[in-house]
Amino acid sequence: MAIGGFFKEVVLPEQKSYGDSVLFPAVLSPTINTSFTVFEEAIKAEMPWLDSLLKERGAILFRDFPVTSPSDFNDVVEAFGYPEAPYIGGRASRTQVIGRVYTANETPPDKRIPFHHEMAYVPDYPSKICFYCEEAPGSGGQTPIVLSHIVYDKMKERHPEFVARLEEHGVTYIILTGDEDQPSSSTGRGWKSAYNTDDKKVAEERAAKLGTRLEWMGNAAKVIAGPMPAIRFDKESQRKTWFNNLTGPVHGSRKIHDKGAFAELGNGEAVDDDIMEDCMRILDEECAIIPWKKGDVMLVNNLTVLHAREPLLKPPRRVLAAICK
Ligand code: FE2
Repeated sequence: MAIGGFFKEVVLPEQKSYGDSVLFPAVLSPTINTSFTVFEEAIKAEMPWLDSLLKERGAILFRDFPVTSPSDFNDVVEAFGYPEAPYIGGRASRTQVIGRVYTANETPPDKRIPFHHEMAYVPDYPSKICFYCEEAPGSGGQTPIVLSHIVYDKMKERHPEFVARLEEHGVTYIILTGDEDQPSSSTGRGWKSAYNTDDKKVAEERAAKLGTRLEWMGNAAKVIAGPMPAIRFDKESQRKTWFNNLTGPVHGSRKIHDKGAFAELGNGEAVDDDIMEDCMRILDEECAIIPWKKGDVMLVNNLTVLHAREPLLKPPRRVLAAICK
């Protein structure tokens, strides 16, 4: 299918199919051999359609477009036209590459990053994430994505009582953080860099703006976020989403979380390990895992789609990201 003469929707074997063969994610390719400038202009011209496609399908993978550098990717992000979202309060260590483009996450690439909505634990979470594959993985290192409302529906069907308690009490995230960054951990961002200050009072004020409290333990801080809603109602799609980090780096399961970062229900109740395991099974069953190809750009609706990172089995891999309001 060609749209506006420039974009055509293509089918990949790894896409998920729902209902009347609605494919997730949408994958677009150029209809003709094209230059970067033409691609950029086409995005700007077709943005109302691209935006509605994103809302309808949750994610769009742009494949085989001539995006050859982080600077090109920055221009693509600008062409989308979504305002930039700050990374204040984010937990991962990230480094600016150019303009709005950052390294995606600096945790060791051989470690899996579990499913999460980006920054679901702060009130100002980004609504979109753009990924760019600068260097394709040798093997592994994919970025699985899953439709959040499907996870909610399945969880409600399989664990109605737990989901009712979760909707009633919400969730609280507790993260122990040092003063300096520890890039080896996905939640290893130190408070100085997370709040962009080395003044404890200023950090407390900035944390409060993000709906979090800091408890000091020497130079380390216990960051307490919540209680906050764990289920979000997406007005656009009129669906409830599994908008939380219970299976993310700040895990609900006591078996899985590292002692420095975990989640509990808003009333202090521990989350059931077996239920979390089942939730991870649902995520694995329902996700789409498309291997990265050099030059890929993936636009993800962070309000309706969770993402993860598979372990890298064979280097290299360089995937960059930009987040939008
Ligand atoms: Fe992420």
